Amino acid sequence: MTPTLSIRDLTVDIPTRRGTLRVVDGVSWDIAAGEILGVVGESGAGKSMTGAAVMGLLDRPAHVSGGTVALKGEALDPNDEDAMRGVRGRGIGMVFQDPLTSLDPLMTIGDQLTETIRRHLPVGQGEARERAVRALEEVGIPAAADRLDAWPHEFSGGMRQRVVIALALCAEPDLVIADEPTTALDVSVQAQITALLKRLCRERGTAVMLITHDMGVIAETADRVAVLYAGRLAEIGPVRDVLTDPKHPYTQGLMGATPAASAGKGRLWQIPGAMPRAGSLPDGCAFHPRCGKAQDVCRRDPRPEVGRAHPRAACWFPVGEGAEATA
Ligand SMILES: Nc1ncnc2c1ncn2[C@@H]1O[C@H](COP(=O)(O)OP(=O)(O)OP(=O)(O)O)[C@@H](O)[C@H]1O
Ligand SMILES: [Mg+2]
Repeated sequence: MTPTLSIRDLTVDIPTRRGTLRVVDGVSWDIAAGEILGVVGESGAGKSMTGAAVMGLLDRPAHVSGGTVALKGEALDPNDEDAMRGVRGRGIGMVFQDPLTSLDPLMTIGDQLTETIRRHLPVGQGEARERAVRALEEVGIPAAADRLDAWPHEFSGGMRQRVVIALALCAEPDLVIADEPTTALDVSVQAQITALLKRLCRERGTAVMLITHDMGVIAETADRVAVLYAGRLAEIGPVRDVLTDPKHPYTQGLMGATPAASAGKGRLWQIPGAMPRAGSLPDGCAFHPRCGKAQDVCRRDPRPEVGRAHPRAACWFPVGEGAEATA
């Protein structure tokens, strides 16, 4: 079956006075209908840039400089602003960290929903309002019909993010891209929101790209997980495999640095050093200066891609695999 989203060798460049920064570098993955791909990595790894590239929402001068993006087998041009405006909403729904960036403070909840529905679906005002009520009911807004005329500021943060999810899903998109959808919310409502997103997307067969730095969210929500490091894909595979048996030394370090994984083990294990910035990446594997297993091959070009030395990890010396993989 054709995947809902397919990206291949995606690169994003930002031209600056001191040269071009490659902030996303050769990223490839598929997401099937109804599947949730978690995207993790430390701050600056390129998670949001990858999401923004697929949505056609990169801020200039950042732009897609290579690779392909296809939605249900149809090629998209993320640099074509007009074309991408048509894709967002109907093709791709979006959920961002702060619900207030997705909601217009000067429009009622009902007007925002009905306007989005009518922009993308061939329905009249009455039907659009009925759909808006149903959309609010589905995301668990009590007395939905009475809340249509409410303003965004009358809702709590958690309720606002429910409205954003309703807005992202109301035009029945094939793909939802959620960038840190629960980070700005109280811990007590975070799990409710991710569970809601998961249930609705499963029911509708919507593919989801879920960007988060929260490994707990990944463990509970995602089917597969992609680990980004310095703009590159370090590892990708089924959640259970990657979390319990990480193959890239960076993933292993990342797992060790999450509170859940190290609960009861005292202080968190941190990977020594810092992720290199775009524009000052070392040759070979970008992680090699921080990697205890690095050998000469890791410092040289070409760097390994996922699938070259290991089916899941972009690494010559996958964790627990013993002998050197053939270069
Ligand atoms: N306007 C810009 N000019 C130069 N570099 C930029 C610009 N915007 C972003 N970057 C760089 O792009 C890289 C990727 O950023 P991105 O926002 O995708 O990271 P992220 O993985 O989403 O991080 P976070 O977890 O903090 O959200 C970072 O190294 C960042 O410094
Ligand atoms: Mg980000």
